[in-house]
Amino acid sequence: MAVGIATPRVRMRGISKRYGTIQTLDDVSLDLAPGEVLGLVGDNGAGKSTLSKVLSGAVVPDAGTIEVDGKHVSFASPADARAQHVEMVYQDLSLCDTVDVAGNLFLGREPRRRVLGIPFLDKPRMRADAAAMLSNLGISVPDIAVHVENLSGGQRQSIAIGRAASFAPKVLIMDEPTAALAVAEVEAVLDLIRTVSARGVGVILITHRLQDLFLVCDRLQVMYEGRAIAERAISDTSIEEVVDLIVGRKFSARSARSAHAPAGSPGKGTTA
Ligand SMILES: Nc1ncnc2c1ncn2[C@@H]1O[C@H](COP(=O)(O)OP(=O)(O)OP(=O)(O)O)[C@@H](O)[C@H]1O
Ligand SMILES: [Mg+2]
Repeated sequence: MAVGIATPRVRMRGISKRYGTIQTLDDVSLDLAPGEVLGLVGDNGAGKSTLSKVLSGAVVPDAGTIEVDGKHVSFASPADARAQHVEMVYQDLSLCDTVDVAGNLFLGREPRRRVLGIPFLDKPRMRADAAAMLSNLGISVPDIAVHVENLSGGQRQSIAIGRAASFAPKVLIMDEPTAALAVAEVEAVLDLIRTVSARGVGVILITHRLQDLFLVCDRLQVMYEGRAIAERAISDTSIEEVVDLIVGRKFSARSARSAHAPAGSPGKGTTA
């Protein structure tokens, strides 16, 4: 659990980002421990995706600091974040539909072999390596040579996570990985989250499916209108409380202390 540990895997402090007149992120902090699964929740537009994109290098903040394993980092692009072993699986998955499973897993870093000095794609090796990668994560697909467009939503999600996991991440961020999935597919993705976190990867899970949080998360952080307003150990909260926090009905003195949020909003009168 991140609270009180000496060197968190990730430590974000004072992260702010404004788009025009909208203060999308306002002095947000976030901690993540190795092997921890942190649920990041909040209403539409609360700033969850933007905060995670700051950590994955896709958005450059106006202010704030990021540390990975105690070292100050500064990300100008997702490549910078990848170099520090921070990976993100985006909401739209960014897979290439007309390329097969193996090709997607190795997109941009395909194994080559030289014939008479000319580099050729080493397809047999790529397929063998892809099969090993997937079985290592317990992911099953009907055929490694099938185009990704022919896979189910759950299988596509697994391939996207498998690709991210193959970069040996310290931190894996997943934005709504189960939003469009059938029940059995959700189970498979949650299993995958358990598998990678058990290997020490810190996972940030963004989801509106609150029941999923209680199945895989150690802790949650609630965002409200660009601010981090509350943090809870999963064993110390309930769906009802999380709903209240998300919609701003409940804003306890305890959450105000833990998130350093200014008094007044979003509580509509209740300070429990
Ligand atoms: N590139 C951008 N340009 C302008 N406004 C933006 C941009 N990115 C995000 N915003 C605004 O910032 C706010 C937070 O957006 P963000 O996508 O982080 O919310 P979210 O918590 O992920 O919401 P959801 O649950 O709907 O995905 C929104 O009001 C959004 O319109
Ligand atoms: Mg979002």
